[in-house]
Amino acid sequence: MNRRYRKTVIAGNWKMNKNAADAKSFISELKSSVRGKWCEVVLCVPFTAIPAAVKTAKGSRIDIGAQNCHFAPEGAYTGEISCAMLAEAGVKYVVIGHSERRRDFGESDRTVNLKAHAALDAGLRPIICVGESAEMRETGITLDVIRAQVKSALKDITADRVRRTVIAYEPIWAIGTGDTATAEQADEVNRAIRECLRQLYGARVARSISILYGGSVTPKNAYELFAMPDIDGGLVGGASLDRAAFEEIINAADQ
Ligand code: 13P
Repeated sequence: MNRRYRKTVIAGNWKMNKNAADAKSFISELKSSVRGKWCEVVLCVPFTAIPAAVKTAKGSRIDIGAQNCHFAPEGAYTGEISCAMLAEAGVKYVVIGHSERRRDFGESDRTVNLKAHAALDAGLRPIICVGESAEMRETGITLDVIRAQVKSALKDITADRVRRTVIAYEPIWAIGTGDTATAEQADEVNRAIRECLRQLYGARVARSISILYGGSVTPKNAYELFAMPDIDGGLVGGASLDRAAFEEIINAADQ
């Protein structure tokens, strides 16, 4: 991480876990331990837990995020939630293009780009996820795949707006497997993402954007990961469900 140029962000992605009552008790306890921390703490909770999470986090350092959104401002999209609805509910961040959504719900590079635009239009900060499969890594095409994902996710997003985005590198093979990327592997990809941002937007913008790592982040490996120059925090799945583990990961980012 590099505190001088950009924010360190620790975002928990609860996925389809915990309800409104769980959110209330988790955040009430987390609130006091994050007081005085300088890193950004975000919890991306299920839609139904958003009102309770926003209410409980009010006045604290914790921001609430959603895990998905629709790209249209409104309309006949049964079962979907717009970015304006999320903003009205008090949400600040939204995860876009998580590999589970790309794999199971037909999310494509094109919908990721549309959703990123929609999030920015609504004043939300998109957390755009990119990542390669194990097969892609084995065949040596990781950096090409990641660059292509980043470029298409950011298509037609202007430099002043891109500053509000966060990028999360999440290798698919590391998600939920316990098989974390090494700090060097993760930093190599994050550095390539920053170089891609530099080509698109110039050095000043590139160095201001937070690029996270996600995939089996734990209290044990967090210190080493966050010590790398281009890893500006984490997108944490399983370990964010446990308050003590999540707090320890926040501490690791707060060095
Ligand atoms: P795990 O931390 O459980 O591997 O999940 C990572 C993730 O998918 C966060 O979005």
